[in-house]
Amino acid sequence: LDKKVRQNNWEEGNFINYKKMSENLNIVRSRLNRPLTFAEKILYSHLDDPEGQEIERGVSYLRLRPDRVACQDATAQMAILQFMSAGMPSVANPTTVHCDHLIEAQVGGAKDLARAVGINKEVYDFLASACAKYNIGFWKPGSGIIHQILLENYAFPGGLLIGTDSHTPNAGGLGMCAIGVGGADAVDVMANLPWELKAPKVIGVKLTGQLSGWTAPKDIILKVAGILTVKGGTGAIVEYFGPGVDSLSCTGMATICNMGAEIGATTSVFPFNERMADYLAATKRKDIGDFARTYAHGLRQDEGAEYDQLIEINLSELEPHINGPFTPDLATPISKFSEAVKANNWPEELKVGLIGSCTNSSYEDMNRGASIARDALNHGVKAKSIFTVTPGSEQIRATIERDGQLQTFEEFGGVVLANACGPCIGQWDRQDVKKGEANSIISSYNRNFTGRNDGNPATHAFVASPDLVVAMTIAGSLHFNPLTDKLKDKDGKEFMLAAPSGDALPNRGYDPGQDTYQAPPKDRSTVSVQVSPSSDRLQILSPFNAWDGKDATDLPILIKAQGKTTTDHISMAGPWLKYRGHLDNISNNMLIGAINSANGEANKVKNQTDGTYGGVPEVARDYKAKGIRWVVVGDWNYGEGSSREHAALEPRHLGGLAIITRSFARIHETNLKKQGMLPLTFSDPADYDKINPDDKVDVLCTEIAVGKPMTMRVHPKGGAAYDIKLSHTFNEAQIEWFKNGSALNTMAKNRA
Ligand code: F3S
Repeated sequence: LDKKVRQNNWEEGNFINYKKMSENLNIVRSRLNRPLTFAEKILYSHLDDPEGQEIERGVSYLRLRPDRVACQDATAQMAILQFMSAGMPSVANPTTVHCDHLIEAQVGGAKDLARAVGINKEVYDFLASACAKYNIGFWKPGSGIIHQILLENYAFPGGLLIGTDSHTPNAGGLGMCAIGVGGADAVDVMANLPWELKAPKVIGVKLTGQLSGWTAPKDIILKVAGILTVKGGTGAIVEYFGPGVDSLSCTGMATICNMGAEIGATTSVFPFNERMADYLAATKRKDIGDFARTYAHGLRQDEGAEYDQLIEINLSELEPHINGPFTPDLATPISKFSEAVKANNWPEELKVGLIGSCTNSSYEDMNRGASIARDALNHGVKAKSIFTVTPGSEQIRATIERDGQLQTFEEFGGVVLANACGPCIGQWDRQDVKKGEANSIISSYNRNFTGRNDGNPATHAFVASPDLVVAMTIAGSLHFNPLTDKLKDKDGKEFMLAAPSGDALPNRGYDPGQDTYQAPPKDRSTVSVQVSPSSDRLQILSPFNAWDGKDATDLPILIKAQGKTTTDHISMAGPWLKYRGHLDNISNNMLIGAINSANGEANKVKNQTDGTYGGVPEVARDYKAKGIRWVVVGDWNYGEGSSREHAALEPRHLGGLAIITRSFARIHETNLKKQGMLPLTFSDPADYDKINPDDKVDVLCTEIAVGKPMTMRVHPKGGAAYDIKLSHTFNEAQIEWFKNGSALNTMAKNRA
């Protein structure tokens, strides 16, 4: 295990550290003394402190040292801006940025890309220059979708990766533990802080039998989603094993892991096998496959490893499935689908079929899809529905162009879109139906929530394997089942489609296509990060002020929020996402969705300095301008929902000191601490009811100490002051964050 094997072909000095992983694992083994699952092996071999770390699945918080970080272009903006404010000369761990989310599908690949490059110029310029400055690999627009690029270039068996996108688990197809996170977590790892994860439970999925005919790897996850539902994987890693695994291609395994995000799983993994070695060799990383063989015992589950839940699927009996509409866990086998369409009155006509995306754009997917399209063309028929193809990467696009599948799709009537997310993330200028018109579409993507693809709430979106998408596009109808139904050829004669076929890997090797990678330059000292001072989309962050060392007195309550206050109420998405790289502009959405307990309304609070009413951000800005710090009072589980770091940055930016609630969602609580705020909870939750929104409060910050409650002195209008106790979960290190003004300020200070 002593060998020096590089993590990838792009970075000189980053090696795969099986030796260290195996040493860490031995320490943990001697402590736990039980067989381990593969998922546990990866996590425990990346522990910051394998000797001292408490380990209980579903209970402890693991402090981990990931091997890599990856960010897509939408989430990278704030992550990099924050990282910059730590004042470090380069990222502490290997990091890449991928431009894929901001390209809208309109007419087709090249034109759409050119348009996006124009519209998003300042964002791309910023990312490209910041990546060059801080030693980050930059994948330009047109290079492909983050998860495909990671699989083709960076994933390796047994590695631990965090990525700022929910479908990061895609790399599980190469035996990597790849977890989707918020930007704040990415910043921690870039800045060399350990990364925290609640020790996941492990769900085992045993695969037996063999796939054949029309059944594809996608059908495995469609079936699993039906069994576990969209919540069933929460807090768990899904680990596949069993003899059926060997009948799956590496990219097929990636598809399954990718869509594991739809059941809420932390991630999904497959054990190292020869199909992975084949893929590594085909993508010019044979040495990684060879190295993984020498550590194979660390790259699969132990005999007798116990799972928190076990599911078994016999691939020989598995039918193709179609899931949807509106939710990915409504799974219907193809044999029952036509009935379901009738019973539920789903629009029968298939308007659009879409293949590709991060989920299903491998060479195998394209090859099998093209075999079906070619079969149809041989019978003189084409796609009846609109048909689009999204290659997952420039490498895939160039390879299918060279090998002819791309031309087959075009002949079939397809439009080849840019190598980017496009309609998968709603970047789709769809013209064929009006907003509000009920219609059906089917894609080989992963998510099909209402409005996700085209912003039309009446669109019934279904997800399936690319094979079924192509077949149904020929019929143009949701009633078509290619396993049993006939089609008519150009002369009206009936025929049945042959089952799809095609190699999983190109036998002439991959064609890399255009060079779309920007490596960080050797000399980075002269690079300057490009942010126009007049930009409304990007703004350099200034470090927050350190604590003044005093108790805070006479603070107004900006809002006493009542009921559910999710991160979406605190920092709304939708049109605001445009400003995700501009803290001051996006702060105009702060808490505008929260309900004010004083009047039951959203975004209407009293300005305690003059008695007027205004929106929450306006009133906060007024306090800030007058030099007044403020607090928010919140209800149960404040800050649940997506781990959006803006929900913590905005109150800090607009002058908040403390958020005082009945309880917090843990990630948001940690995010607030990172930004130098005080997340505090009523030691007696009933005290929430005592607080009147017009009260003033003193927060006795000088009392802050590990494990000790703090005092809040409440000054009711016209009444006598009284004290209540506030609890907190700060540890020593986190108290330093508060004192220094933020976690990043602390990093910067410790370096100096
Ligand atoms: Fe997300 Fe892009 Fe895939 S939007 S689901 S990464 S294609």
